[in-house]
Amino acid sequence: MRKSLIAVALAAMCAIAGNAAAQSYPSRPITIIVPFAAGGPSDVLARVVGERMRQSLNQTMIIENVTGAGGTIGVTRAARAPADGYTVSFGHLGTHVINGAIYPLAFDLLNDLDPVGLVAGNPQMVVSKTTVPAKNLKELIAWIKANEANVTFGTAGVGSGSHFSGLYFQSLIGTKARYVPYRGTGPAMQDLVAGNIDIIVDQASNAMPQVQGGKIRAYAVTAPQRMPAGPDIPTVDEAGLPGFHIWLWSGLWVPKSTPKDIVAKLNGAMRDALADAAVLKRFADLGLDAAPAQRQTPEALRAHQKAEADKWWPMIKSAGVKPEG
Ligand code: MLT
Repeated sequence: MRKSLIAVALAAMCAIAGNAAAQSYPSRPITIIVPFAAGGPSDVLARVVGERMRQSLNQTMIIENVTGAGGTIGVTRAARAPADGYTVSFGHLGTHVINGAIYPLAFDLLNDLDPVGLVAGNPQMVVSKTTVPAKNLKELIAWIKANEANVTFGTAGVGSGSHFSGLYFQSLIGTKARYVPYRGTGPAMQDLVAGNIDIIVDQASNAMPQVQGGKIRAYAVTAPQRMPAGPDIPTVDEAGLPGFHIWLWSGLWVPKSTPKDIVAKLNGAMRDALADAAVLKRFADLGLDAAPAQRQTPEALRAHQKAEADKWWPMIKSAGVKPEG
């Protein structure tokens, strides 16, 4: 009898403490872990949204780039963090879905991180250094086939968006050219501009500024419609590789069992950001589409993540992709 009374009292005290923590949340800076290098598409998107969330939460948002292994290092760090709302995992289709079919992760990618919300998305873009002798996608494919042994694809590591997009592209054209891993497509893009690698199938938001600057060449976007930000860039369907569609979406997660009212506060701040005119203007310039309002709920992200795993895991597993590449 005495023992159970103590247990009830303890549980009540924890609940009170939990509520107090949630009510005073956030009382110190929040860290968003970005699993790729600074300056790349994930980093840029996390910083734009993070800056606006700072205003809503009235608390410092720290962006921490924890890179390596196609994003699994950073996501693992977040999954193991305390479930107190002060560590947020930023990621995308690659880091929070694809990697679950490749890496022997020490946690359950679909269930050990609680969704906060879907943020934004963009198609991938097939781009090359300017010296590649190809004016359109068909010529690029012919060039890759003719030079397969020497062609290099830049990626952000095995399982990243740029890697599985490169894999999918090559599986469609029947080549096995080499992948050169970087800690993000930020540094990979620098090497593409410098001509040290040949091709990246990268997030359009990362490639677009370089394409507009004439520093790299674009061949197609992996979407059924052209991008308003890049009306001259054909779709893969128009360019001769019909159906090569990839929508690289990004979202926010927290460690499993983070109190619901803390998740609600983070989700609310994320929604404020996605309704903010300045944020939406920045997205439009980069070719990013904010998640539609009805899909900005934690539940919608969990359902979407599961649906994407059902869609992509069979393909990735049948391709026999290994963490070492
Ligand atoms: C990045 O920010 O570097 C990209 O999201 C990496 C990728 O997945 O290709």
